[in-house]
Amino acid sequence: MSEFDQVRPLRWRHNCLELLDQRLLPEQEHWLVCRDVADVAEAIRDMVVRGAPAIGVTAAYGVALAAQELAETGPVTAERLVEPLTLMAQARPTAVNLGWAIKRMRSCLEAGATTPERMLQEAESIHREDIAANRRMGELGAALLDPGSRVLTHCNTGSLATAGFGTALGVIRTGCSQQRITDIYAGETRPWLQGARLTAWELAQDGLPVTLVADGATALLMASGLVDWVIVGADRIAANGDVANKIGTYGLALHARAHGVRFMVVAPSSTVDMALSEGGEIPIEHRAGEELLSMGGRRIAAAGATAWNPVFDVTPARLIDALVTERGVLYQPDTAALKTLFGAGVPDDD
Ligand code: MRU
Repeated sequence: MSEFDQVRPLRWRHNCLELLDQRLLPEQEHWLVCRDVADVAEAIRDMVVRGAPAIGVTAAYGVALAAQELAETGPVTAERLVEPLTLMAQARPTAVNLGWAIKRMRSCLEAGATTPERMLQEAESIHREDIAANRRMGELGAALLDPGSRVLTHCNTGSLATAGFGTALGVIRTGCSQQRITDIYAGETRPWLQGARLTAWELAQDGLPVTLVADGATALLMASGLVDWVIVGADRIAANGDVANKIGTYGLALHARAHGVRFMVVAPSSTVDMALSEGGEIPIEHRAGEELLSMGGRRIAAAGATAWNPVFDVTPARLIDALVTERGVLYQPDTAALKTLFGAGVPDDD
């Protein structure tokens, strides 16, 4: 691995998928072993692994595990895969990469790759392609940054959230190696603290200094003239360029526009869902209120309080200055521009 690229969130070992347990970072670096597709579904749902592209790659290996299991009792067919994959497909609703990866694995099977070995090879291809896409986006996105840029990011979009290197954090890594970035700010990202726990941890592994800010401090940070670009990832991008991403992203985009700060979204083509015409159609995951009411297993909210806990929001395309994908950069993305890069889109039949 090259400079500023020390972290990986998953690995295939001894016919099992191993996941770096992101619930335990930064205190503990523990690899959780998934032996079958049910283990994988549970790991995605419980956020052992999270981040849209990492979820997609994990799901691809989950299909490979399902194929291994099926091969013990008969042929590996699309029909026999339906039941084991249903639970995994429903594990988290917003990140489209989950369904995208399952669909691609199924297409590979239908094209004749009916052995577990071939299914595993396809998962490995998805894994490699995601890293390559991140590298390409890193170059494309960093080219938009003037030397001396100060950037603010949200959630964790790095090696932990992808197969490796990262989307928005990949742009920041490349920007740092090209000496275009002087300051990295990261929002703590309540309630799960992906920024404080994960982004800060993985940047520290790479020796990149980061300044954490409370989510509520980001408007003041921008008003103080301390940020040139907000750079974020995406969980699903609709055909008109609307972007679902971690809760708080929409607020950052509004503040950025109000303060003349530019706003960049970085995501691979596997995150684009041309079957949805606009962001209002994107399913938004709500998680247990407990994630908000407690911290580290200890209740922090006053007794009697309940919580509303949507974990993603939608940023309208009109607030986005640049959408960076491995296929190219779209400035002020809209339906026509997305169509040029991603085609018309075919509604899913499953
Ligand atoms: O709930 P999470 O942690 O899975 O949410 C992750 C995000 O919102 C990321 O910003 C997004 O997946 C892009 S990561 C490359």
